[in-house]
Amino acid sequence: MSDPKTVMITGAGSGIGKATAERFYQEGFNVALLGRTLDKLQAVAESWDSERYKCIKCDVSEQQDIKNAVNKVINNFSRLDVLVNNAGVANMAPIDEFEVDEWERIQTINSTGVFLSIKQAFEHLKAVKGNVINVSSVSGIRGDWGGFAYNASKGAVSNLTRALALDFGKEGMRINAVAPSLTRTEMAQGIFDDEQKYAKFCERIPMGRGAEPEEIADVIYFLSSDEARFVNGVVLPVDGGLSASNGQPPLITGSG
Ligand SMILES: NC(=O)c1ccc[n+]([C@@H]2O[C@H](COP(=O)([O-])OP(=O)(O)OC[C@H]3O[C@@H](n4cnc5c(N)ncnc54)[C@H](O)[C@@H]3O)[C@@H](O)[C@H]2O)c1
Repeated sequence: MSDPKTVMITGAGSGIGKATAERFYQEGFNVALLGRTLDKLQAVAESWDSERYKCIKCDVSEQQDIKNAVNKVINNFSRLDVLVNNAGVANMAPIDEFEVDEWERIQTINSTGVFLSIKQAFEHLKAVKGNVINVSSVSGIRGDWGGFAYNASKGAVSNLTRALALDFGKEGMRINAVAPSLTRTEMAQGIFDDEQKYAKFCERIPMGRGAEPEEIADVIYFLSSDEARFVNGVVLPVDGGLSASNGQPPLITGSG
């Protein structure tokens, strides 16, 4: 019998990463949880079978951290089937208040971190014809007011996904991305907690609410699975219909 499949998830200590770790664990995967704070990772896996997970301290902006993490995954589980690049940070502010260091921090974590982990995991994913899921955003499809740095970083993730799909396809590998809109996590808690801001979001989301992290995790799992075996290079909105709009206001009576 072959070893069980293994998934490696960055930023697995909270939000979408945590929900994704839980989903893959339920599906029988060995799970490598990566993040900067071991306690947070440990808390996610508290009740799990200790043979089936590994918490690994890793800052995705540090090449050596990612190298070490991939080595640990292979030493522990002997294979890597799915890589979920989920770690991310956001900072919305006008350009005249935005310093170069902050721009670089956002690009390095959100975009360079994705490149680094794919680069380090590549040979192992290739060996099993595995796949990659990147967590982009609706902000990686079009712009947000005040969001230019985050938009640029997530735009890079979306287009890196499309471009690598061309190269991966020949190897029998796949790479896809999800593009969530507002999701109830630490990153967006400020919006959920502010009645007025949340109501403004709900006006724009045809389904009239934000997502729960599990609703994003389910789509990540689907894209990684054999059910999606001919899906390659998509940036799939998981947004209650938000990106179906061209942005014009709802003026017809009875709509919006
Ligand atoms: N919450 C939303 O509304 C929303 C919408 C669209 C996309 N996203 C994306 O979803 C992903 C997950 O975010 P979330 O919403 O679950 O928020 P979150 O803040 O709960 O999760 C982000 C995780 O990334 C980790 N992280 C940040 N920098 C890191 C680094 N340098 N190295 C390793 N880990 C690091 C954080 O510690 C955290 O655990 C992000 O890429 C985010 O941009 C979120």
